[in-house]
Amino acid sequence: MTSLIDRLQNHEFESNVTLFQLVFYSVEREICHAVIRRFPPIMDGPQLLNLGCAPHIYPGWVNADDYSIKRRLRERSFRPNWSLDITRPWKCSNEHWDGIFTEHVIEHVSMRACEHVSYSEAVKVFKECLRTLKPGAWRRVSVPDVAKYAQHDGVEQLSPDAPEFAARALAISFATQMHLNRSAWDVTLMTRVLKETGFSEITAVSIWGGHRSTPDQG
Ligand SMILES: C[S@@+](CC[C@H](N)C(=O)[O-])C[C@H]1O[C@@H](n2cnc3c(N)ncnc32)[C@H](O)[C@@H]1O
Repeated sequence: MTSLIDRLQNHEFESNVTLFQLVFYSVEREICHAVIRRFPPIMDGPQLLNLGCAPHIYPGWVNADDYSIKRRLRERSFRPNWSLDITRPWKCSNEHWDGIFTEHVIEHVSMRACEHVSYSEAVKVFKECLRTLKPGAWRRVSVPDVAKYAQHDGVEQLSPDAPEFAARALAISFATQMHLNRSAWDVTLMTRVLKETGFSEITAVSIWGGHRSTPDQG
């Protein structure tokens, strides 16, 4: 049987950014923000935004992500059709979008790619979403629900694509630290923050559940 120490080796998280990386990415973002910030492309049909798309490009959607030149060169699949720093004011008119989808993005936003856990940067993103959504439009936000991980019994599979955890603390560690997460959320916190930002009709849904479980259904 695999020992706990062996299993712990599977819980090594990515290291923090170096000072060089921090300076490089901050300067890159500043220059791009000043020079190549653009309005989003206009798509046929409803204007739908996949914010923080990474390699997940949905046809007919505006797939938006960071400027990262290095990533464009390295990752063939990293081809956002709208580049922006989502924590800064977006070059986008008010009441533009019919829907905005973010999956595994909000828990990653941080000040200029800094190391700080940052809720205020996430709130900036929510405010820009609200400003640019048409009245009555929808916003779907998907983040790890830390409360669920905190109740983990060491046996149950938390979601179809989640790894198995040997202990509850490892599940919490995964939800809060893996993939350089900067903030941790549960339904209560997310609901309160969204409400205070000005969103209404907030509903918690399970991982593949809800009215719009994938952008394909948008
Ligand atoms: C973990 S990936 C999620 C990708 C995809 N949505 C998914 O579900 O697999 C988080 C994405 O958010 C983007 N992101 C984080 N902070 C950002 C920022 N300030 N501006 C633009 N994109 C940002 C990252 O570049 C990254 O591609």
